[in-house]
Amino acid sequence: MKIGIDKIGFYTPHMYVDIKELAIARNVEPEKFTIGIGQEKMAVPPITQDSVSLAANAALEILTDEDKKTIDYVIFATESGIDHSKAASIYIHELLDLNSSARSIEVKQACYGATAGIQIAKGHIALNPESKVLILGSDIARYGLHTTGEVTQGAGAVAILVSKDPKIMTIESPSAYQTEQVMDFWRPIYSDTAYVQGKLSVDQYLSFFQSVWKEHKEKTGFELKDFESIFFHLPYTKMGLKALRTVIDEGTEADKDRLLANFEISKRYNTIVGNIYTGALYLSLISLLELNDTIEPGARIGLFSYGSGAVGEFFSGILQPNYRDALFADQHEKLLADRKEISVAKYEEVFQDTLPVGIDNIALPIDEDPATICFSGIKDHMRQYVNKNK
Ligand code: HMG
Repeated sequence: MKIGIDKIGFYTPHMYVDIKELAIARNVEPEKFTIGIGQEKMAVPPITQDSVSLAANAALEILTDEDKKTIDYVIFATESGIDHSKAASIYIHELLDLNSSARSIEVKQACYGATAGIQIAKGHIALNPESKVLILGSDIARYGLHTTGEVTQGAGAVAILVSKDPKIMTIESPSAYQTEQVMDFWRPIYSDTAYVQGKLSVDQYLSFFQSVWKEHKEKTGFELKDFESIFFHLPYTKMGLKALRTVIDEGTEADKDRLLANFEISKRYNTIVGNIYTGALYLSLISLLELNDTIEPGARIGLFSYGSGAVGEFFSGILQPNYRDALFADQHEKLLADRKEISVAKYEEVFQDTLPVGIDNIALPIDEDPATICFSGIKDHMRQYVNKNK
């Protein structure tokens, strides 16, 4: 049975800061951020967007009423969770009127969570061929003002519908995966910003990529020539390029040209959104699928997923006939074009506009947020959300 991605969408908040302006404000040469890190814009979430509302907005655009009836499993991957007990996916059930005959869970392993969700979905559909699984990968990347990680912040969510006979991409077996205990990046429960050993995280990312790439080659016999494109988890876009460069000499000149050209297209959305943690790999996939003019159905693509801590996985997929017809390119173009630039001073204000820990009641200014679904406040310690279309 063919199982894979039937639909895929994303959402990012309506504000961004220009990375060159951030560099100037931080007394850094702009080229360090634009070339050395490879970013242009950084999404800035207002207080009325959290991981739940970002994910709900991403799913809103891709699901039909028929999908909502058929989805029997919702897997919410995040490292920006809002509750230690309750799964964020349950809020999505209510906001989008999903069928209640469903399983609904939250999974966590840093930026690897959405890939874990996809592999769980694949197993579930193998046993239950008529089912559809909704995977949500939603995060707000926060390192703090004036930190070295600041330039790699971002916010957004991807929504992925996994089914049999998918319209966009089948997921192949086997894949190669690895786990090691590494403290390269983590966020203790008491902190709303990440702790990171930046250089170690870069080294671990590259080491995991080389290991799972090698293991995948041994398991499948696939080489660079077999891939039209290779996608990477992109905490910042230079990271994927660094990883690609470690294996690119294994191929011919034609392989190098093709993979580097496709990498350029696959990083575009990430360049102007920033790190969205667990959704970042899939934002890159959306970028290439929506922006390329040449990739034919039947092409094999490779995906490298990395979540600090750390877990890595390399797997592959095959693009399906008419995959372009199943994309939401026009909506995404509009979403990105409608965003508004804010100054660094305004970004700093928004960044520090957080809810006091333990606050029991508050109403938030949802009229200032053009998103359809917003985090509207807290009543008696219970988070409140609104779908303005309901
Ligand atoms: P840094 O130490 O400020 O930067 O922080 P740097 O000194 O390493 O410079 C960065 C690059 O800019 C270098 O290029 C410089 O040469 C270049 P590279 O050697 O890397 O090719 N550069 C310039 N280029 C052009 N013109 C110039 C110029 N000046 C310098 N004038 C660091 C960089 C990534 C460490 C920092 O931003 C950070 O800590 N970020 C957060 C952690 C991170 O993103 N790690 C990536 C791997 S881990 C991961 O992906 C998982 C993660 O998503 C979390 C999860 O799983 O949940 C983070």
